[in-house]
Amino acid sequence: MSTQSSASDSEIIAARDRVELLRAEILRHNHLYHTLDAPEISDAEYDALFHELRRLETDYPELASADSPTQTVGAAPGRTFAVVEHRQRMLSLGNAFNGEELIAWQQRAADLLDREQWTYVTEPKIDGLAIALVYERGRLVQAATRGDGRAGEDVTANLRGIDAVPNQLSGSPPPIFEVRGEVFMPKAGFDAMNAQIAEENQRRRDEGRAELTLYANPRNAAAGSVRQKDAGVTATRPLSIGIYQLGWCDDAVPPDSHWETLGWLSEFGLPTTPEAARHDGIDAALAACERWTQRRDSQPFEMDGVVVKVDDLGLQADLGIVGREPRWAIAWKFPPQEASTVLERILVNVGRTGSINPYARLRPVRVGGVQVTNATLHNLDDIRRKDIREGDTVVIRRAGEVIPQVVRPVLERRPEDSLEWEMPKVCPACEAATVRNAEDAMHYCSNRACPAIMQRSLEHFASRGAMDIRGLGERQIALLLQLNLIRDPADVYGLLDKREELGTIPSLGQKVRRDGEDRYEAGKRIDNLLAAIEASKSRGLSYLLVGLGIRHVGGENASLLADEFGSLDAILLAPAETLAEVDGVGPVIAESIVEWALDGDNWSLVHRLQAAGVEDEIERAEHEPVETPLEGLRFVLTGRFSAMTRPEAEAQLKALGAGVGSSVSKNTSALFAGEAAGSKRRKAETLGLRILDEDDLVESLNDPAVLLARLTEEEPPGVD
Ligand code: IVH
Repeated sequence: MSTQSSASDSEIIAARDRVELLRAEILRHNHLYHTLDAPEISDAEYDALFHELRRLETDYPELASADSPTQTVGAAPGRTFAVVEHRQRMLSLGNAFNGEELIAWQQRAADLLDREQWTYVTEPKIDGLAIALVYERGRLVQAATRGDGRAGEDVTANLRGIDAVPNQLSGSPPPIFEVRGEVFMPKAGFDAMNAQIAEENQRRRDEGRAELTLYANPRNAAAGSVRQKDAGVTATRPLSIGIYQLGWCDDAVPPDSHWETLGWLSEFGLPTTPEAARHDGIDAALAACERWTQRRDSQPFEMDGVVVKVDDLGLQADLGIVGREPRWAIAWKFPPQEASTVLERILVNVGRTGSINPYARLRPVRVGGVQVTNATLHNLDDIRRKDIREGDTVVIRRAGEVIPQVVRPVLERRPEDSLEWEMPKVCPACEAATVRNAEDAMHYCSNRACPAIMQRSLEHFASRGAMDIRGLGERQIALLLQLNLIRDPADVYGLLDKREELGTIPSLGQKVRRDGEDRYEAGKRIDNLLAAIEASKSRGLSYLLVGLGIRHVGGENASLLADEFGSLDAILLAPAETLAEVDGVGPVIAESIVEWALDGDNWSLVHRLQAAGVEDEIERAEHEPVETPLEGLRFVLTGRFSAMTRPEAEAQLKALGAGVGSSVSKNTSALFAGEAAGSKRRKAETLGLRILDEDDLVESLNDPAVLLARLTEEEPPGVD
């Protein structure tokens, strides 16, 4: 590589300024992230800074420097813990953000190795912190953080308290060796822990004491929990680990592929990364990455990508390391789900229950591949707890399909004149006073006849999850409300007698030219709307129940209630205790129904709906005895199935009486292994369990007798 660019002096001076600025910024962010566990910017923003620096260093080789953050990893260890020198440097990974970049990486390796084809392993890239564990004669003797890659912090005592980290290995491990893995906090544990902190803060607030900070995300929570001065605190935190690599190993001969190494390590009881898979070429590895992108939220832990590794350890050695990154592995990064932007205003809208819902109007920003301009803010308490203000730079997160959330403000960028936001004293739609409900900490409009409540209630009634009246959307409802043609759901059925009148409304009717004048009359649009209204009468009890908009009553519990009670009257007349006894209903929903039914106006609505002929009962089919031929058996499913999704298959097995578990043990009756099955399959093999494939699964669900026969067959298990 040349060490001089052909750029002019002034270009180089400008580039040097930028490079110095970027280096200083990156070092500062490294310190915030690695040492203080308090990042100010999102990973994607950090990656962008890093990319820009690397590009400038490539374009202007004269600016390269051995202390550039592109040549070193993370931040030097802090002062709380003893320093551990890593015998072998702990590396970082280069990134690929799309298929071309992944293929380009493979091509660079192919050029170096002078061959085209080899196998790969993909593993989830778990978002936590890297740890090196040394085992001597099967006992954990040292645990260290990555630090700057050369030296990390001694966190042995802290790691000993994590249940998932074995203190004593089983089998015949090498006499002394080091493994590397990612310590992480599962999402459920993170939510529970933050909820606990919030509760504690409520107490502290009441007592006027200083509050604890909530963790921003599971990764910071894992890092913060591992780096506790008191190892006893670490032991109370919901932490886990995924081992992804053998570091060094003395006096033993490890397998010669990464894939086999993972299997080998798991034989000693080490929890290797879940859902690892082996692929016979880069195309298959890329396909796996793309599938992972679609189901990035499917794991109980947070993933920020997929690690693609060359499987053959000999080839890994040939490829070697460049800077701080191995050439034999790369991180396939998901499009970011977090980004920061400016919160321009906090606005409110009125929900169907009259709740005043604050939301953030944002300077548009792309998050997870989608342009985001609004994010929910729940309620005033939440805004205060997170300390969010208009004008703040805020971190936005979008997970899966859910509405974007404002995670936290970046206090360092808060404008000096910013003020706490106040809830409007009056409803934005009708100007009646707003009142706070202590139970759910929400503010409500005090006017029952608020036009916004009517609008939202009607939209909800006509929505797909309720009565599914196509053609009766937000715009049409607003218009009909304005013309006083409807006020509540029962009025919708009154429209059936108003075909001609509706026809004269320009945006609903059909334009005809008569006697030289434009007129509007009922046409196809009205007929479709009226047909949809008519059809909704027989939509059924559970949808009607949803449509009434009783607080907390949604699709799932409505159908449980409909099945149990059989008619709307029976549900509305049942005492709270009886309602709460229904599996999946519970006291909150029960109370809410009773409260709704105590209101005379609501009963009059019900009577008018009944009078309009809306079906409010279900015909009960005779109860057929349910057959559960797989009672007493327990299955585990792993890998991907093409004929159905795993949850579908699991539900069908359960319906046949079987138990379905997530981990393989000697009590597992059989493992159904789909494509790319990884560690569970290996474990099942080790335990000598029967392993069945997708065809077996499909056949078994069609005819459970086939499965029962398979399970008692004499052939050696695990052969497929
Ligand atoms: S392999 C050569 N595999 O990602 C480096 N890393 O950005 C070996 N990580 O420092 C890393 N899950 O902390 C590997 N399945 C996985 C991983 C993984 C998470 C972390 C690890 C590493 C960082 C690199």
